[in-house]
Amino acid sequence: MIRPRRNRSTRAIRAMVRETRVHLDQLIYPLFLVPGEDMRQVIQSMPGQFRLSKDELLREIGECMKLGIDKFAIFPSIPEALKDKTATYSWSEDNFYLHAIAEAKNQYPECFLLSDVAMDPYNSDRHDGLVEDGQILNDETLPILAKMAIAQAQAGIDMIGPSDMMDGRVGYLREALDSAGYKKTGIMSYTAKYASGFYGPFRDALDSAPNAGDKKTYQMDPANRNEAIHETMLDIQEGADIVMVKPALSYLDIISDLKAYSEVPVAAYNVSGEYAMIHAACRNGWLTYDQVMPEVLTSIVRAGADIVLTYFAKDYAELTRI
Ligand code: PBG
Repeated sequence: MIRPRRNRSTRAIRAMVRETRVHLDQLIYPLFLVPGEDMRQVIQSMPGQFRLSKDELLREIGECMKLGIDKFAIFPSIPEALKDKTATYSWSEDNFYLHAIAEAKNQYPECFLLSDVAMDPYNSDRHDGLVEDGQILNDETLPILAKMAIAQAQAGIDMIGPSDMMDGRVGYLREALDSAGYKKTGIMSYTAKYASGFYGPFRDALDSAPNAGDKKTYQMDPANRNEAIHETMLDIQEGADIVMVKPALSYLDIISDLKAYSEVPVAAYNVSGEYAMIHAACRNGWLTYDQVMPEVLTSIVRAGADIVLTYFAKDYAELTRI
């Protein structure tokens, strides 16, 4: 009789035939930055994640590097008074986010930093693009994103992460970086970013929910699959170094599609709502964290992600430490 159970009979055999492994090298840990000093603000809907001031962020990066996590995506929480219609603070000389990037790269030159390029943290309308009469303007947003990207490149970011979903932005940003002399700065594009309900806790963390309307005219319809391929083709043509699917868990089919079609690496963003769901269930005693957390990461990698942005990164490193 053919008995597939033979390959499951001992721990050693199971490990030997295991098809998917999640390595720490694949993980990017998102961190939230606030101005000031000595701050470690609790984010209610994201247990274990904090809004960190620069000093705390640097300490966190150092701690993670010791655990084998050396890649970070940094998101700023901008005080209301610094927001305006055209996101001018995003490229301002005294922007605390840019200073923190420069210091992190200075203190830990070997770490990898990914930025967020989008207007929503800086925009008084809290949309990813310029708003006029309730419309999100595409082409008028691009030069603003370019200024932001160049300022981040100047601060020393390794890769920029356009998360805005404006058309043509990858090509526009590549051109802008090249002509400003930042040929080595990479682009990880939020390629298939869906208009998802799973970003709720992130918007709490950054207080960045749109003032009016929703993001459905620029983020993708969760029902669409072919369109993700279209976006991928465009981003690769325009010069993306890495393409991304976001969220991850309800979009494993999309990750698998991108892996099949893309000749550049595929990242998946295991978003805030996915993190919050697991924590909520574990806090109630309904799920076991040390079991489901690695299962979630494994499923994302199994689907085809080469890289995973995840708030679980540090816990995974601690869990798998020998
Ligand atoms: C916005 C941005 C969002 C996230 C990353 N960049 C939220 C949004 O589009 O409203 C979400 C990340 C998460 O939920 O963990 N540019």
